[in-house]
Amino acid sequence: MAELHTPEGEVFTGNVPDVAALSEMPEEYRQAVAKIVRSHAINELTGAETFDEPAIRLAPTPRLKWLVSRATMEEYGHHVLFARLAEAMGVEWKSKKPLTLFDYPLKTWVEYGVLKAIGDLAEIIQLEDLENSTFYPLRRLAVKTMPEERFHVGLGEEILRELLKDPANRPAVEEALERMFPAGLAFFGSAHSENSRKFIRWGLKRRSNEAMRKEYVRRVGELCRKYGLKPPTIPEQYQEEGLAFAS
Ligand SMILES: [Fe+2]
Ligand SMILES: [Fe+2]
Repeated sequence: MAELHTPEGEVFTGNVPDVAALSEMPEEYRQAVAKIVRSHAINELTGAETFDEPAIRLAPTPRLKWLVSRATMEEYGHHVLFARLAEAMGVEWKSKKPLTLFDYPLKTWVEYGVLKAIGDLAEIIQLEDLENSTFYPLRRLAVKTMPEERFHVGLGEEILRELLKDPANRPAVEEALERMFPAGLAFFGSAHSENSRKFIRWGLKRRSNEAMRKEYVRRVGELCRKYGLKPPTIPEQYQEEGLAFAS
């Protein structure tokens, strides 16, 4: 294994091939990995329970029920994979608080379309960094779950595309986008996060929370342009990050 001492400002570039090799890594590395694994384990589960499973009933056609069932199965599957990794590492994930995104139970089909299109997009951006993680079990999970997350975003877009064929649905779509977007931004965590610095220092992620949020805004902006939707409001609290939709 490569250098274990990573002075402040330097990035660890070795690799940790499996859970057994974690024991040779410093405590800070193990803690950082545990944080990432724990948050995925709880959030994949809560997402499946709060949004995907109820959406099977809301889906208006058998074909869409089938596709939502598939997405639900995959989200539970993601949870199982991350929970299995957590357990192999001896990491407790059940007491972790899920994201605020899940505080609002799903009520409408429109909300589900928006959630899949912009919520799972936030997950994709996180996975892009994990695909290059120095902890290989995380890298493998990211590579495995990425195509499914892409399918979820595609499903969300398909739902929106169908809904927007009827102009009467546009206000509901824009309203759901406006309401859910702040939780998407919050998904990336604080710009002043000490954890984020540790993730980068240990090569677990490449981008800062702020950089990922910026990329997220860019892609949500692209989505809005593609479907002729009014971009949602960027909350005041992100003003210092200079976030804006390209005009
Ligand atoms: Fe997932
Ligand atoms: Fe997903």
